[in-house]
Amino acid sequence: MKGVLTSVSIGLALAVLSVVPGAHADYNLVQTWAGQSFFDGWQFYGAYDNLTNGDTIWVNQSLATSSHLAYVDGNGKAIIKVDNTTNVLYNDKRNSVRITTTNSFPVGSVFILDALHLPYGCSVWPAFWTMGPNWPIGGEIDILETVNLMTQNQMAVHAASGCTKANNSQQTGINNNANCTDGTGCTVLETNTKSVGAAFASAQGGVYAAQFDVSGIYIWFWSRASVPANLQNPGSTINTTAWGTPSAAYPSSTCNITNYFTAQKLVLDITLCGDWAGVPSVYNATCSGGTTGVCYTDNVIGAGSPRYDNAYFQINYVRVYTVDGVTSSVLSSLHRTSTSSISTPTSTSTSSKSGSNPGVVLNVSSSLPLFVLLFIGALAILV
Ligand SMILES: *[C@@H]1O[C@H](CO)[C@@H](O)[C@H](O)[C@H]1NC(C)=O
Ligand SMILES: *[C@@H]1O[C@H](CO)[C@@H](O)[C@H](O)[C@H]1NC(C)=O
Ligand SMILES: *[C@@H]1O[C@H](CO)[C@@H](O)[C@H](O)[C@H]1NC(C)=O
Ligand SMILES: *[C@@H]1O[C@H](CO)[C@@H](O)[C@H](O)[C@H]1NC(C)=O
Ligand SMILES: *[C@@H]1O[C@H](CO)[C@@H](O)[C@H](O)[C@H]1NC(C)=O
Ligand SMILES: *[C@@H]1O[C@H](CO)[C@@H](O)[C@H](O)[C@H]1NC(C)=O
Ligand SMILES: *[C@@H]1O[C@H](CO)[C@@H](O)[C@H](O)[C@H]1NC(C)=O
Ligand SMILES: *[C@@H]1O[C@H](CO)[C@@H](O)[C@H](O)[C@H]1NC(C)=O
Repeated sequence: MKGVLTSVSIGLALAVLSVVPGAHADYNLVQTWAGQSFFDGWQFYGAYDNLTNGDTIWVNQSLATSSHLAYVDGNGKAIIKVDNTTNVLYNDKRNSVRITTTNSFPVGSVFILDALHLPYGCSVWPAFWTMGPNWPIGGEIDILETVNLMTQNQMAVHAASGCTKANNSQQTGINNNANCTDGTGCTVLETNTKSVGAAFASAQGGVYAAQFDVSGIYIWFWSRASVPANLQNPGSTINTTAWGTPSAAYPSSTCNITNYFTAQKLVLDITLCGDWAGVPSVYNATCSGGTTGVCYTDNVIGAGSPRYDNAYFQINYVRVYTVDGVTSSVLSSLHRTSTSSISTPTSTSTSSKSGSNPGVVLNVSSSLPLFVLLFIGALAILV
């Protein structure tokens, strides 16, 4: 019985995958963030990390700019980093950055991040991810997420009850959890050890891409030497046909993307310690036990350098492509001023930061791995 179900499901997954390139072969460029204008069209969080209990203040744009935590370097690459110049006193948090796009992009989009360096180091927790404007309603896609000295990226999808991860889909990553609704989300571990950390940087970085499609969500990673030809210097259209097997595949057969996901905003952030990097068992395992065994004490306080010298993104570009037809509302909203319900800064800040939305609080715990939940009490006592 199990065997029959499995082969039927594999057949379905293959059928869904084989539809992807044909159904949406060509995506059109709708937005590029690169070079001197990289930081246009993002909103800076401007508050401490009250979402994942990290020991960071995600500073506002003026402070990020004046303290060189968000800037464009001499080679035209965007830098987003943790403060490594301040001597942080005990009980204080360290400055960092979290930015969210003003615009939202609908089902039928491809998101691409080309970077030369990703943040790493003990206590460091970076992510490149997407969320609905009324997050946690509307789903979440974690394209890039890693903590401490982990050597592989962990991808995840978070969505409302009923969205699950097929365990037989065509992907190169390792399934770790099938339930996209529980604390962990449906996680997939990347197998490419150049996907994060020092190895990512020594390979001159690489490219992450996510296809957010009616047929499913597919996430790819390529180290620099393996980046597909059509992503080496991408133009105004792109297709995914030559990208090969993704690292993670979330076919609509077990999570109907149209039903579970709204349009998504992109987020780039770095926090420190908190509900994943700082969990004692995680911290211990991914930082060789640490010194005191407490993420905050070992890392956040004291001189920032050299401890946080590698806690930065160096980005060639972030691009979004969308399918014809689906794109029109986004395209027309890109230059609209204040009335668009998709993309006004005002609606973003009230919805994504709304303290009166109990779902936000819920998501703090619902986006945590189960083992993290078990350790929250212990963490609270320790900190
Ligand atoms: C940015 O944050 C700093 C530090 O909290 C504050 O002093 C400053 O007034 C803020 N600037 C703006 C424009 O909000
Ligand atoms: C997926 O299948 C593998 C191999 O059968 C199994 O070890 C793993 O536990 C499964 N994962 C999930 C999330 O069901
Ligand atoms: C998935 O997790 C949610 C939240 O913990 C739970 O309510 C639901 O029953 C789980 N679904 C399955 C199929 O285990
Ligand atoms: C898709 O891209 C490949 C190159 O990666 C190209 O050969 C092919 O013609 C493209 N297909 C379409 C339908 O644009
Ligand atoms: C998803 O749900 C919609 C509406 O119920 C339906 O039209 C569509 O066929 C479903 N897609 C898949 C892949 O099952
Ligand atoms: C912490 O990690 C070290 C190995 O680095 C191990 O020997 C020790 O048992 C771990 N401690 C705990 C509490 O997990
Ligand atoms: C901080 O990190 C940067 C690289 O991210 C490095 O160039 C610099 O020397 C470090 N230390 C200080 C004190 O700025
Ligand atoms: C987080 O802080 C922001 C800014 O102070 C606030 O608007 C928001 O309600 C807070 N969110 C939570 C979940 O506490």
